[in-house]
This record gives sequence, structure tokens and C-alpha cells, in this order.
Amino acid sequence: MSAARLRLAALVVALLLVAAPVVFGLVDGRTGVLVGLALSGAVAATGVCGYVVLRRVEERLRGLERGIARAQRPDRQPGRPGRPGQPGKQGKQGNQGRRGRGAARPQLPKGLVTQAHLKKERDQVAKRVQDITNLFDMVPIRAGIPPLGLWTASADLLVALVDRFVETRPATVVEGGSGVSTVVLALAAREHGIATRIVALEHDPDWADSTRRLLARHGVAEYAEVRVAPLGPTSLPDHHTPWYDESALADLSEVGLVLVDGPPEGTGPRARYPMVPLLRDRLARTCTIVVDDTSRPGDADVVDRWRPLLPDFEFETLRLDKGAAVLTRT
Ligand SMILES: C[S@@+](CC[C@H](N)C(=O)[O-])C[C@H]1O[C@@H](n2cnc3c(N)ncnc32)[C@H](O)[C@@H]1O
Repeated sequence: MSAARLRLAALVVALLLVAAPVVFGLVDGRTGVLVGLALSGAVAATGVCGYVVLRRVEERLRGLERGIARAQRPDRQPGRPGRPGQPGKQGKQGNQGRRGRGAARPQLPKGLVTQAHLKKERDQVAKRVQDITNLFDMVPIRAGIPPLGLWTASADLLVALVDRFVETRPATVVEGGSGVSTVVLALAAREHGIATRIVALEHDPDWADSTRRLLARHGVAEYAEVRVAPLGPTSLPDHHTPWYDESALADLSEVGLVLVDGPPEGTGPRARYPMVPLLRDRLARTCTIVVDDTSRPGDADVVDRWRPLLPDFEFETLRLDKGAAVLTRT
């Protein structure tokens, strides 16, 4: 409403408020004046309170609009966007540079979904559809598989794994942890005629059975061995988290591809560390080690600790759904 109209409305209301006691007084004398005054007072008080509340609501809405506008600015886009109200890594640096250190960051209400979030979700879904399409183009998956990316490897990791498997045609493949990845490798071996030995170490006998059944359902039971290796102490002096029974490695040699995706993180700190120190002497001259879950700090730390053990390997980080590292010696 314009200021002139507001002033006019206020004038009309004031006149009505003054007129009420006069009119009531004419009708009922002194009592009427008192009733008119009470009525005018009540109306005036209600009007003032309503005005104050509306102003507060208006200010709050303006604040929200400003917050949303700031959150959707393009300088928040590069890098990894954060949760609502929290800029992504690069966005945070960019904002600091622009507004100066210590400047207040807009706080969006919890649970508010911004356009930027919806766009990110849409892009992630599109990427996953493409990963699954790629995977199904590379290996003939003709029976059901468990949902990818929960306890299993994600589709993008499987694509990266099969790519390297087909390219390097390793004599021996070793997996820490069995599951869909074992089936996918077995299917790729059959599809691409790769003469290879795939051995998946598995600490859980029930899970080993379930992976064997999955291999059979996909018609590739003879292409991979699920080897039960209970978790226990290792021969590594400074490592105290149990790992697969080392005797399970005894007959392995010329290992050209390793997938590190077990034991589960919950078994203890640096649960997957022993794979490299214990398998190092059995690796082939040309070798690729694929490590899942490196977006978890513990697994990224494990990869860092391997660097001095693998001086002739190249370390690469893949920005996959759960983070991955690929270590190669060519
Ligand atoms: C991350 S999973 C290995 C996944 C495997 N590379 C794949 O792509 O399916 C590591 C271990 O977790 C255990 N595991 C797998 N699925 C599980 C589930 N749904 N619940 C509990 N443990 C599971 C198995 O012992 C497995 O060896």
C-alpha cells in the first residue's frame, strides 16, 4: 500500500474512533460516551498490535528472501555444495573472499530445499542412470542383483573396475569382500573371454554362500572363487584390527587387479590396511589396485599410508559416489 493511502486509511480510522464516543453519547448520554470510548480503545489496541505483528512477519519474510537469494548465487556452485545453510568447500572460500573474514553467513531455516539442491539431486540421478546404463552395456547382467551402492559397490565404481579389468586382462584378481563386484567381474571375464582367476576373500560364511548363489544364478559360478577367510590377527606389528586369515593368500601370485572393498569399516580402525603390505609380494609387474569408499577419512588415510609401500605406483583419486582411489603400475 502506498504511503498516501496508508495516511488516508489512518485518518478515516482515527475519525471513526473519535466519532464512536460522540455518536454513542448522543444515543445514550454519559453511558454511551463510556461505551464508545471503550469500543474505540479496543479497536485502536487491536489495530496497533496487528500492525506490529504484520511488520515483524514482513521483516522475517524479507530476511528469508535475502537468505535464499544469497544461497542461490552462482558463486556457491563450483565445488561441493554443502547442506542447507552451509556453503560447499569452495563456496565457503569464495564467500570469505568477497565479504571478508568473519562476515555473517546467511542462515537458511533447517530443511529448506533450494533450487541449487534440487539441481544437484537431478544431476546425481542423471549420473546414476548413466552409470547403470554403462554397466549393463559392458557386462550382460541378466538376473537380479542387490541394490547398488549400499553394501555393494556403486555402479560408477563397477564401471571403473570393469574398464580396467578388460583393458589389463590380469592373470589373477583378488577382492577384499565379495558380492556384486565378484559377479560383475565374473560376467566380464566370460563376456570378454579373459582367462583369469578371480578370488574373493570373504570373512562371513553366510555372505560367501549368498555370493556363490548369486554367481550361480548369473551362470558364472566357475568364473570366480569365494574363499572364506575368517578375520583374525595379522603378522603386521603395528596393526591391531583383525583382517582376513593370511593363509588365504598363500597360493596367490601374479595378481594384476585388486579390489579393496572389505573387511567392513566397523571391524576396527584402518580395517583394510593389511591388503597392500600382505599382498605386495604377490602383485604382478603390471598391476591395478582399486580402493572403494575413500570419501571416508579412514579409508583415505589407509591409501596415504600405502604410498611409501608402493613407490612405483601412480595414485589417482576418482570422484565417484563413495570416493575411490586407483593405484597403477604400468
Ligand atoms: C562392502 S561389502 C563388499 C561388497 C562387494 N565388493 C560388492 O560389490 O558387493 C564388504 C563386506 O560386507 C559384508 N556385507 C555385504 N553385504 C552386507 C549386508 N547387506 N549386510 C551386512 N554385511 C554385508 C560382506 O561380508 C562383505 O564382504
